[in-house]
Amino acid sequence: MPEPRPGEVRVQVRAASINGFDISVANSRLKGMMEHRFPVVVGKDFAGTIDALGDGVAGFSIGERVFGVVIKDVLGDGSFGEYVTVPTSMGIARIPEGVDFTEAAALGLAGTAAADSFDAAGISEGSTVLIAGATGGVGQQALQLAVNAGAHAVATAHAREEVAKVRDLGAASTVDYTGDVSTQVRELHPEGVDAVLHFAGDPVALSSAVKPGGVLVSTLVMDPHQLPVAGIRVVPIYANPTTATLQRVARNHAEGHTTVTVQRIYNLDEAPDALGHFAAGTLGKLVISID
Ligand SMILES: NC(=O)c1ccc[n+]([C@@H]2O[C@H](COP(=O)([O-])OP(=O)(O)OC[C@H]3O[C@@H](n4cnc5c(N)ncnc54)[C@H](OP(=O)(O)O)[C@@H]3O)[C@@H](O)[C@H]2O)c1
Repeated sequence: MPEPRPGEVRVQVRAASINGFDISVANSRLKGMMEHRFPVVVGKDFAGTIDALGDGVAGFSIGERVFGVVIKDVLGDGSFGEYVTVPTSMGIARIPEGVDFTEAAALGLAGTAAADSFDAAGISEGSTVLIAGATGGVGQQALQLAVNAGAHAVATAHAREEVAKVRDLGAASTVDYTGDVSTQVRELHPEGVDAVLHFAGDPVALSSAVKPGGVLVSTLVMDPHQLPVAGIRVVPIYANPTTATLQRVARNHAEGHTTVTVQRIYNLDEAPDALGHFAAGTLGKLVISID
């Protein structure tokens, strides 16, 4: 049973969801990059109920329903377990009424990455936007933010159910990501698009879909110098799940401005299957439910 340190709360986890980061941890891709304190529990996204308060915690009480992202400097505490301790300064917010644990668990990191990407791209009414990876957890959230802002959103999709999903979320057009995406985008928008939100695919190839003076915002390119393209801005995103951003994501969901696709719900002892299925490809989020 983890004990909350000063400034932390302990959450009885009711649901968690899978992100690419968890695959990296499980595959030991972060070995040497972050300190690991064993036993390392995998899992960033959580939703549950506060059941203990560390010293000095103000503004949260026992019994409150909360969700968010486990933010710690070292790898060790994770959300794929019955309890997790998290700081209250970052990565936690209350779950609004009407939003259940399953939905809330699917919103934290993907919702934050989408909101931060949307903001960085400066999307507004009439903007033209390509969402590369629109079928994924981050992409679906970002697509809806762009559509809600009045942008003309082009979404990547391949299989029929992927096309149906992104259309349902408001995409004005779709392009097949198994083909040349930038050429397909240029057929729709010969001058190029104002912004590319890059959550999947080859950023160099996608950069030629951006019009001169436009922007490519990416959760995958960690340094703009990795992408030496002239005439456009490249903005790397490190999702920053502040309480304010999490509240905004949850409010959007509670008020029906966005939805989240939970493709499948697993039991805790099926977490390895969930990780494997996520790595093999999903249409939306995979959630682990903990009763
Ligand atoms: N920097 C950060 O702070 C941060 C935060 C969150 C996420 N991320 C990263 O952002 C990326 C997206 O996250 P996510 O949670 O949305 O992942 P995801 O759920 O796996 O979504 C990726 C989606 O893109 C589709 N796809 C695969 N290849 C594609 C291609 N060439 N072009 C267009 N779409 C393609 C995938 O389809 P299939 O499943 O059928 O392959 C999937 O639907 C991940 O790499 C993740 O690690 C970074």
